[in-house]
Amino acid sequence: MRGIILAGGTGSRLWPVTHSISKQLLPVFDKPMVYYPLTTLIMAGMREILLVTTPYDLPGFRRLLGDGSHLGIQLDYMVQEEPKGIAQGLLLGADFLEDEPVALILGDNIFHGGNLGSGLCEHTDPEGGRIFAYPVDDPTAYGVVEFDEKGVVVSIEEKPLVPKSRYAVPGLYFYDHKAVKFARDLVPSDRGELEISAINSAYLREGELTVTVLDRGTAWLDTGTFSAMVQASEYVRVIEERQGLKIGCVEEAAWRCGLIGDRELRELSRPLLRSGYGRYLLGLLDDPSDEEAVRP
Ligand code: G1P
Repeated sequence: MRGIILAGGTGSRLWPVTHSISKQLLPVFDKPMVYYPLTTLIMAGMREILLVTTPYDLPGFRRLLGDGSHLGIQLDYMVQEEPKGIAQGLLLGADFLEDEPVALILGDNIFHGGNLGSGLCEHTDPEGGRIFAYPVDDPTAYGVVEFDEKGVVVSIEEKPLVPKSRYAVPGLYFYDHKAVKFARDLVPSDRGELEISAINSAYLREGELTVTVLDRGTAWLDTGTFSAMVQASEYVRVIEERQGLKIGCVEEAAWRCGLIGDRELRELSRPLLRSGYGRYLLGLLDDPSDEEAVRP
């Protein structure tokens, strides 16, 4: 299975901040936003990852993450010329995927919670599509899942004005090789995008969509507005300062997954000592705490 991170888009809901920098490079407390989805993919077992972004922002991501070898992964980049929808990411990634299943994650989605990392590893060979549902107070900004009284999924609607449930679809999708074929058949929606909800609906029509409701102990954070950005930063700060454990720390995830060793982690920490981030990495080497300590 291969991973795709979508980090394109204009970030227009965060203008003027995102006029000159990609939203996914902005900080969420103590690290760039893209670290969080990248950590989620690493914890889910992905070792070959494609990052899709705008031509303007690609050099910034490359400066930050390079070819991924320092993390023991292979990171490739692809340009999305115009924001034509999440499902377009599947088309752009078609050659990279080579008919392998895909874990697609949105670069602005932050997941954190009990056993999310090890739990996600169960989905690495999906038959059909596997997505998640998460209760939110206002689902109108999201894809929304409708369940019947037996809990069977009946429909998926993108940003409905009148949502049929309060279950939003978070931006993490596991698909088998058919996702690219479904994407090729899509037509743009009214907002001019190839909608990921249309891919999910295609799997649903084929009877091949599994929807897992994330339990309430899981945090799925949005970073779509200024307030949501501050909330996400505050959430990360509160948990990190309380536990002394970082959320979305790519270096730690790579080390705990055995992709890099102690020597490499020590080297990665060296340029980061002044911010305290490097001291945290060094501290991991002395800390006998258990494997469960890392969270995506
Ligand atoms: C996108 C998807 C939507 C999903 C959401 C999760 O929304 O279209 O189905 O629920 O991401 O963050 P957008 O970012 O386009 O508003």
